[in-house]
Amino acid sequence: MLTPKPDHFDVVIIGSGAAGMTLALHLPDDYRIAILCKEAPLEGSSYYAQGGVAAVLDEYDSIGAHIDDTLVAGDGLCNPETVAFVVEQSPGIIDWLVTLGVNFDTRVSNSGRSEFHLTQEGGHTHRRVIHAADATGREITERLAEALNERKGVEFFTDQIAIDLVTSDQLGESSKYCCGVHTLNLKTAETQTLSCQNLVLATGGASKVYLYTSNPDTASGDGIAMAWRAGCRVANLEFNQFHPTCLYHPTAKSFLISEALRGEGARLLLPDGTPFMENFDPRGELASRDIVARAIDFEMKRLGCDFVLLDISHKDDGLIRSHFPNIYERCLSHGFDLTQAPIPIVPAAHYTCGGVVTDLSGQTDIKNLYAIGEVSYTGLHGANRMASNSLLECMVFGRAAAQSIRKTPKRKLPVNPIPRWDDSQVSRSREDVILAHNWEELRRLMWDYVGIVRSDRRLLRAQRRIQLLQQEINDYYAHHTINRDLLELRNLAQVAELIVRSALSRKESRGLHYNLDHPDQSSAATETILMPTNYFG
Ligand code: FAD
Ligand code: SIN
Repeated sequence: MLTPKPDHFDVVIIGSGAAGMTLALHLPDDYRIAILCKEAPLEGSSYYAQGGVAAVLDEYDSIGAHIDDTLVAGDGLCNPETVAFVVEQSPGIIDWLVTLGVNFDTRVSNSGRSEFHLTQEGGHTHRRVIHAADATGREITERLAEALNERKGVEFFTDQIAIDLVTSDQLGESSKYCCGVHTLNLKTAETQTLSCQNLVLATGGASKVYLYTSNPDTASGDGIAMAWRAGCRVANLEFNQFHPTCLYHPTAKSFLISEALRGEGARLLLPDGTPFMENFDPRGELASRDIVARAIDFEMKRLGCDFVLLDISHKDDGLIRSHFPNIYERCLSHGFDLTQAPIPIVPAAHYTCGGVVTDLSGQTDIKNLYAIGEVSYTGLHGANRMASNSLLECMVFGRAAAQSIRKTPKRKLPVNPIPRWDDSQVSRSREDVILAHNWEELRRLMWDYVGIVRSDRRLLRAQRRIQLLQQEINDYYAHHTINRDLLELRNLAQVAELIVRSALSRKESRGLHYNLDHPDQSSAATETILMPTNYFG
């Protein structure tokens, strides 16, 4: 018999986005589950998702077409088995969301039936993106959270940041499995250690590593860095997706302008009003995201301009206001009326295509440790994620990981108890300005040297600077009391180092990774897999 302890859980889930909440909802009622999140439960990329969820729902669409489009967008680097696994589950995932009360937009068909309104986004050859106006993430996460509130046995630990994972080898055992996590309460500054049978990383992506990003502050790559330090392989981290269209305004914080605008007919224009996308791809505005972002970057550099324009003002005012109510209002608050004139846009870091290597159940290299959602590398996205495939992946793998956990027999608790976090050797820093400076330096150098267009020289320059920053940050970490800024900076610096190492090892251009010194694509597509020194597999 296992004796439950106050800080012991059947499952600890780090992250309460679409991935983490989906997993929790698929676990048995009698499991004791902890869900950790750095801020309020809904704060994360999932809540801000706009365009929708890609799913095969139209009678003229097919699973085969969705698979093909995903493979084409991924530029030869997707794992076809993963793509099929995810896409085949898309209709079932939507059914499940509907049973939870998710209210997707509908329309009246030509034959008078009510059916889901499906929008279009880059790379999709069919209308297949189901949505709730332009706030799909809000609608989905609110319904998931409501369903979780009904569940017994789920405890939320809000304002709680995971510091590092605990694995059994650290406790002197010969086999390696994940058995806990150290956390820091951001309100009380107290540390806590949770032990568990299974731990799930659902921490989202790492786009905060770039100076300009569409992502909320939670996206600091914590899960990737923690898994790497614990001994997991990571893959394809050079594929950082830049969303082509974020609002250009000093106080808009790279507010995303959904790709669905282009799906509904918005055009990209140079500052003088000339359309340009057809010069880069016959699909024009609906080419995949890597191509559109690179085209905008090319034109901005060629003309020396700070932004290009996105224009949907030729469309019906009613359609714009009803399909894009939040984007319309937000633009208006910055002085831009979508119904009247083009708006200024720029690309910004948006999605981390690589991550912690997992199998089709979200299982990582370490037993009892799972990674699901944007933190993971499952093989779905290849060299470039197709729009709206991410929420789908979160929910497919949330469910798959839950099924795997249910089947995993419970094991005995580690013989040696997990030692508490020891901060007896560190003191409070009086120089937090160093942290602020390093944050800025890291994010700026990643933007300048590891952005949409790369070169070997820029990557090497970035690598040297990141190594110096890591030395400073690790020294700071060894001597000072931890806080959120320090933990996230340490994680971001680790992820930046892994991104640059991956980018330097790829001697070709493919998908989102474009290197001026290696502009051609190799005939063989290979993943970039990095192996930590403490890899156990
Ligand atoms: P998130 O939703 O980001 O949640 C991460 C969670 O982890 C948060 O709860 C956070 O607090 C927690 N966390 C992180 N680190 C720690 C730590 N150290 N300790 C404790 N907790 C931690 N994709 C689509 O498919 N369709 C779209 O329309 C779409 N639109 C988007 C629009 C925007 C503006 C953005 C930013 C992204 C969009 N994406 C879209 C991408 C998609 O939203 C994300 O990839 C997806 O939601 C990630 O979900 P997740 O559950 O993996 O992580
Ligand atoms: C968008 O609405 O443009 C974002 C969609 C996505 O990132 O998948």
